[in-house]
This record gives sequence, C-alpha cells and structure tokens, in this order.
Amino acid sequence: MNATHINNMNYKELINIEKLPQHISIIMDGNGRWAKKQGGTRIFGHQHGVKPVYDVVESSTEIGLKFLTLYAFSTENWNRPKIEIDALMNLFISTINKELKKLIENNIRLLVIGNINLLPKNVRNKLLLSIELTSKNTGLTLVLALSYSSRWEILEAVKLIASDVKNNIIDAYNIDENTFKKYLSTKEIPDPELLIRTSGEFRISNFLLYQLAYTELYFTETLWPDFTKNDFYKAIYNYQTRERRFGMTGEQIKNSTR
Ligand code: IPE
Ligand code: IPE
Ligand code: MG
Repeated sequence: MNATHINNMNYKELINIEKLPQHISIIMDGNGRWAKKQGGTRIFGHQHGVKPVYDVVESSTEIGLKFLTLYAFSTENWNRPKIEIDALMNLFISTINKELKKLIENNIRLLVIGNINLLPKNVRNKLLLSIELTSKNTGLTLVLALSYSSRWEILEAVKLIASDVKNNIIDAYNIDENTFKKYLSTKEIPDPELLIRTSGEFRISNFLLYQLAYTELYFTETLWPDFTKNDFYKAIYNYQTRERRFGMTGEQIKNSTR
C-alpha cells in the first residue's frame, strides 16, 4: 500500500467499534488562518468552522461515541477584538437555534463547561434552556467548553473544597482523586482517551489540564474548517494503533489483554 493509497482510505471502515474511546475532546483551531488563505475575514473563518462541528457530532452519533467535548471559546479568547467576540457569540446563538431540534431528535445531551456567567445573557439563557431540554437524552453527550480554561476550573474547585473543609463537610486529609474530580466542571464526564488538535499547533492552550493526564494526543496540520468526518475517523484509527501503558511495561499490558 503506498502513501497516496493510505490518504484515500476510508478510515471509518478501519475503526474497531469494540475498542472505541468513550470520550474524545477536540481543540478546534485554525479558523483565522483558513480565512486568511481564502482572503476572507477571521469571522468568515469562524462561519466556516460550523460545518465540521456538525460533521464530528454526526460521526460521533454514527459510531456510538458516549462523550464529545469541543473547545469553542477559551477564557483567553475574551482578549480578542470585540468585533470578533461579538460575531462568535452570534454564531453560537444562531447555531444552537438551528440545531436544538436536531439534538433532541438524535438523543444528544448537551452540557457546557466554563464560566458561563461571563457570556452575554441571551447566549447563557439559550444554553441553559438547551441543556434543560436535552437533559434526559441518553445518546451522545456533547460538551461545549465555552469561556473555559483549565486553570479557572481548577481554582474554582480549590475554592469550593476550601469552603467545604472549613464547613466540616469534607476532611482535608481524606481528599483523594475521587473527591477532587467531584469539584471539577467535568464531574459527570470520564477523562478523554483522545485529544485532537487541528491547525498544526502543538499545545494544550489551558484545556482540561487535569483530565488529560493520560490522554493520547493527536495533532493534525488540517485547519478546522477543512476537518472532515474521515479526518475524525483517521484520528480514532490512529488512537487504536497505540499502546496505552499507564506507567506499566509493554509486556505487562500485552499479558493483561491476552
Ligand atoms: C479557533 O480558530 C476558533 C477559536 C479560538 C474561537 P482561531 O480563531 O484560533 O484561528 P487561528 O488560530 O487564528 O487560525
Ligand atoms: C484554543 O485556540 C482555544 C479554542 C480552540 C477555543 P487558540 O487559538 O485560542 O489558542 P492559542 O492562543 O493559539 O494557544
Ligand atoms: Mg487559534
């Protein structure tokens, strides 16, 4: 098989459905650079970043993934020009308006992680309503990271824990990983087995720092607006070729899976 052949592969067929990750998270990056290449504005790039969101959500439901987390807006993104922030907020609203019905029909549960108090009221209310209306759904859980950063999340957890210790609700000496997890915004969500970042940047940008401890990282040069279903399946296929050792030896892992 030559390289061209591999590039034309239908990766969906290669995925082992028995060994799917439970949770995939994506840093959707590269809208601005995509737009620049097309001679358009950054906002034009964000508008073209919506289609791949539909595609990865649809792919996730097709293969039966349990959790998909999309990093849509970081705490640090509040430092962007106001015109870009406003356009992104409008895009969030119009996308949810268009897609809410589909989320309900496809049994998708929506969750949001991040400091939603910073979001404009109309965006926040729309999100809260969508979370409520999809809360009983049992298929894919779609987690939007909005106004999210991991350091914010960890500091929030520390404040809540400190207050619970002070009020004798928990004992400081008994705080373990399980206790800590309950104070994170991802408390109902298992750690992602796979993280995908598009656009050729090799960094985490304040995303799920605690939860990514043993996550497999997958980086692709593809800019987010160009990311296809096949690219998504390719990342999953690549993940399935890896050996996850969790500090053990390769031999131990092989013996335990025999
Ligand atoms: C990702 O694309 C979308 C958001 C961060 C909201 P960017 O807007 O970061 O695109 P680049 O990185 O400038 O190309
Ligand atoms: C990370 O992308 C945040 C999102 C994808 C929402 P950025 O484009 O903001 O990240 P940096 O600034 O290049 O690290
Ligand atoms: Mg970027």
